Order: sequence, then structure tokens, then C-alpha cells
Amino acid sequence: MNPCPIIPAPRSYRRCDGFFLLPSGGNVVHLLKKEIDPAILGEESYRLAVTPEAIRLAASTSCGLFRGFQTLKQLVFLAKDGRLPCVVIEDSPRFAVRSFLIDSARHMQSVDEILRMIDGAALLKMNRLHWHVSDDQGFRIESERFPLLNTVGSYRDGDTFGGEIKTGRTGGYYTKDEVRQIVRYAASKYMEVVPEFDMPGHVSAILAAYPELSCRGGPYSVQTGGGIFPDLLCAGKSAVLDWIKSFLEEMLELFPSRVIHIGGDEAPKGQWYTCEDCLRLMRDRGMKNAEELQQYFTMEVCEYLHSKGRRAIVWNDSLKAGALPPQITVQYWLGSKKTTLAHIAGGGSVIASEMGYMYADYPFFMTPLWKTYSYDPFPSHPEAVLGVETTLWTEYIAAEARLHEMAFPRIAAAAEVGWTEKKHKNYPSFVRNMKRLLPLLASMGIHAAPAEDWSGCSPRALREMSVFLKRTADGKTVERQRQNMKEEKRLAQIQGFSE
Ligand code: ACM
Ligand code: ZN
Repeated sequence: MNPCPIIPAPRSYRRCDGFFLLPSGGNVVHLLKKEIDPAILGEESYRLAVTPEAIRLAASTSCGLFRGFQTLKQLVFLAKDGRLPCVVIEDSPRFAVRSFLIDSARHMQSVDEILRMIDGAALLKMNRLHWHVSDDQGFRIESERFPLLNTVGSYRDGDTFGGEIKTGRTGGYYTKDEVRQIVRYAASKYMEVVPEFDMPGHVSAILAAYPELSCRGGPYSVQTGGGIFPDLLCAGKSAVLDWIKSFLEEMLELFPSRVIHIGGDEAPKGQWYTCEDCLRLMRDRGMKNAEELQQYFTMEVCEYLHSKGRRAIVWNDSLKAGALPPQITVQYWLGSKKTTLAHIAGGGSVIASEMGYMYADYPFFMTPLWKTYSYDPFPSHPEAVLGVETTLWTEYIAAEARLHEMAFPRIAAAAEVGWTEKKHKNYPSFVRNMKRLLPLLASMGIHAAPAEDWSGCSPRALREMSVFLKRTADGKTVERQRQNMKEEKRLAQIQGFSE
């Protein structure tokens, strides 16, 4: 049997005798015989049969036909001398969700660039763009109800990421029309855009615009560098929750996704222990600590989303006070898996994006491609894994060329982790296939990291590692987080709460 050249590797691939002769130019769209076959189970499943006489693609849904067409596109691209090898491919995904995150808060991308990333990811059968559009360093979506989010929250006064100082006001936001264009374009590729509005932490940009949403009243400014900042949305003021609901109501009009990501990561709670409103609510409700206040806050926002027919996703940090209802999906990225496993035990499901494997912003030296490829999320509970995600945080990814190199081929590795059954995965085959697909990606305007970098040991990969080390050498982020935690503990004790 010839090895399968497709990424992600399909469930079943059989090379048959003979070839289908391609028309000159290779365009097979008008020759393709498409069929809806209800017997093919699964929304994304398809069967592709190439014989010397015809190319037949069958699925029970138009989404399945689209996924199958991505396979055909790769086969046609790889065909030599106008001869398409005869094959029978029967295929369906391992996990329902194959997601990639683009962080447009730290650095924005042009609309064209986002559409290009969607193209590349769709070719690899990814089906979700997790769009991180709000963080300490900028708020990126047009709001008519809360215009200061744009006039104030979308701009920052220079850049200090990794100690590299750039002066001048920088930023911007996507207009509602642009957001609709991106959502529509993704939908045309059977890809859902799930926005993330991170809360109660990572909100400096929101607080710069509306400081009354904080515990202290501000003033705040949009952050110019990376890190974890102590300013949170106040969980004790009912007016803040009212604001969040009104804000989400406006955003839900733009994003039709079944789920909305509400963040919940990295929220140091020192300020909640110094806020009369937060303390009153904690005491009135007999909460043991501020983690329980975050749990209350998360539940309020999730219940609002449920009332609007949506579901929520939260980062696993949101589980520190104990389980959340199983309707809420947890995205695991870092830390003990105990709370996430308890969520699974309670019937909940998980998106898996473990930092050491799936974070695409780390140099290949730290996370070589084979490591991403080898990711096996929650192996003792595969039934609870809704999907996997690779993340492109952009503190250090300002240029579009750099975005491509960090995203590809990692998105391809993530696609195979998410789509391909474990027993059909094979890293040497994946690498061989990936190298052959690079010119196809390049023809789509996507310039992936060169193959010699993937193991992390090329001279260029080593140089990138040394740049990364220089950026993080001052240890400021780690130190700031240590201080945040120390302060939180101290204030909790003063107020008579145990952390
Ligand atoms: C995260 O990387 N802070 C979710
Ligand atoms: Zn407060």
C-alpha cells in the first residue's frame, strides 16, 4: 500500500490501480461527482473515490463534502504529470473540535491576514477559530453601546513587550462589518469563530475605558507590555454584571457561535479582598474565599449566556473553587489537571491546549514540532475531550510573516492530533507530507517555518531561542505573578479568609 499523502491522515486510505487523468490546469470542480449519502454517518465524514473514470465525493452533509474537498485539493496538488492516483478514502474526525487561537489583542492582524489563516487552517480541516479579542493590551471589536472601548480601550501608548521599547500610539479595532466578513468567510469553510472576552482578569483595556467597572475606580491605562495585571472587573457590584450582560448582548449579535469564551485565566484576586462591594458579597453569601467569588461571577455570566441560547468556555483557572456545571466547557492549558479531571468526572467536557505541547508562540527549541504532534490529550478520558487547540499568542508576533511561521506547520500538527485516530498517526509520514504541502500553502500566501527549524535545532531555531531567553531573562512576568499571589494571600488573611 502506498503511504497516504494527506494531512490530517484519514481514517481509511486505499490506493487502487490506475489514474484519473486531470484536465489541463488541474481544475476538477466541474468534473467532481458530488452526492449526499445519508448512510455516511457524522457531520464531517466523507467518502472520496477516485477511479480512472470519475472522482466521486459523498457525505451526508455539505460540511462533509467540504472536508472531503480539502482532501481532494491536496491530492490534486500532489498529482504528478496530470495523473491523479486512484484511491478510496473514508474519513471522519477523532474529535469534534479542531481549533486555533489568534490573539488580536496583543498585536492586531489585518482582515486579509485573518482570512488567509482561515484558508490555511480550513485546508487542514480545522473547524474553529478561537479569536482572542480582548486583553490588557487592547480591545479589538467595535462597540456602539460602549464607544470608549474603542476610542480609549483599543489604543495603547507604545509597546514594551519583552523590554523592546517602541514609542507612539498603536492599536485599532475591527469594525462590525469586518467582524461579520470574517465570521461569514469562516462559516463558508464550515469553521466557527468563537470570540473570547477574557474576564474578570486581563481587562486593563476595558478598565481604561470604563474605570467604574473596577473595584477601585482607576484611572487605568491600556498596558503596553505582557504580563499578569492585578486589576479586575469588580465582582461585587451588580452594576458591573449588568454592564457585562449588556456588552455581551451587543457582541452576541456579531458572533453567532454556539459557544462564547469568557476567559477566566490569570485573575489575581488581591483587589477583591480590598473592595467593600466584593467583601460584602463574599460575606453575605458565606464564601470561603475570592476563588468562590470568581466562581459566582463565572456562573452569573454563564447563566446569562445560557439564557441567550449560548454556552460558555472557560480556562481551567476558573475551577479553583470547585466544579462548574457540566454544560460549561473547560479549556485546559496549565497547572494541575485535578480540577479538570473532576470537571470530567462530573460529566463536563474539555478543549485541550496544554501549554507545553500546543502553544505555538514558543520557539521550536522549546516545543519542537514532534512534541505538538505527539500530544495525546487526557488519554484516560478521550470521551470527554471535545477537541484540541493550538494557540498563537502574539506578545512577540507583530509581523505577519512571523505569524505564518509560528502558525504553520503547527496548525497542521494540531489538525492531525485532533482529526486522526492515534493508530493512524506517524510522525515521519507527517513530516514528509508536510514538506510536500509547503508549496501549496505558499501558493495561498502562507509561508510556513522551513523544515530545518521544526526540530528546534537549526541555527535559526537556536537564534530564536536566544532571542526568547533575552526577552524573558528579566523574569519580570514571573516575579509580578509571584508578588500578585503573595499579596492576594496577605490580603485574604487580613480579611479573615483562607486562600
Ligand atoms: C493563557 O495562556 N493565559 C490561557
Ligand atoms: Zn470589587
